[in-house]
Amino acid sequence: MVADLDIRFDWVFEGDNVEMKIIMLGSPGAGKGTQAKRIAEKYSIPHISTGDIFRANIKNDTELGKKAKTYMDQGLLVPDELVVALVVDRLKQGDCSNGCVLDGFPRTIPQAEALDAALKAINGRVDYAVNVEVPDANIVERMSGRRACLNCGATFHLKHIPAKVEGICDVCGAELVLRDDDKTETVLKRLKVYHDQTQPLIDYYTKQGVLVEVDGTKDKSEVFEAIINILEQ
Ligand code: AP5
Ligand code: MG
Repeated sequence: MVADLDIRFDWVFEGDNVEMKIIMLGSPGAGKGTQAKRIAEKYSIPHISTGDIFRANIKNDTELGKKAKTYMDQGLLVPDELVVALVVDRLKQGDCSNGCVLDGFPRTIPQAEALDAALKAINGRVDYAVNVEVPDANIVERMSGRRACLNCGATFHLKHIPAKVEGICDVCGAELVLRDDDKTETVLKRLKVYHDQTQPLIDYYTKQGVLVEVDGTKDKSEVFEAIINILEQ
């Protein structure tokens, strides 16, 4: 009991009342990363993308990267035990004390339960689960046109969101690439995995009363505006 109170006490000071923990839900290519970056910038909270963390590890040829790549290249999820430890560790870092935007995590019910347990330990919870809705039919076109920066995580689209200079990242100047897992057959597999393993989280967060939904087929600025309206109402 005393320990519980101590935790709550610390949290009041650390949280400083702007604390907001947001998770982004949505199918592969729905625009989670695009929106998460803007939300994180607006509220000066960290953007934590498990996909970006894995891609950085692959680029640096780490043990984690080697393991993750075998799953990612097939359009499969990386096993829960590899992902959960990584995110829980990241959440303990000081820059998360005012909140964070989790992009691509959780992706399974066990991951969501592990996140709840980790947040509960600091008397926190998920405040908003933002579901960016885009029908499967739009996804393949989005993915084949996406160009990603493996250096800073920025994403562009050849047609919808072009870089100022084709093939070069506007943000950091590195080369833009077509992600290995954006090939059409892998995208179709990722969509199936999404429906089987990640979509159940919509019910999970609806039951917690924190699910909010936006139409991800609109222009990216309209999607952002819709999200901010929800967060600030
Ligand atoms: P991850 O990197 O998270 O991939 P994903 O969920 O498949 O999502 P994407 O990053 O492909 O899409 P997005 O929703 O971020 O869309 P974006 O903003 O880029 O994960 C990759 C892999 O890592 C997974 O398959 C898995 O193997 C592994 N992994 C990661 N997390 C894991 C976890 N928790 N557990 C287990 N495994 C895990 O937008 C897409 C494109 O559309 C871009 O070109 C963008 O410019 C464009 N666009 C965005 N918004 C709009 C708009 N409104 N209109 C038109 N175009 C738009
Ligand atoms: Mg992404």
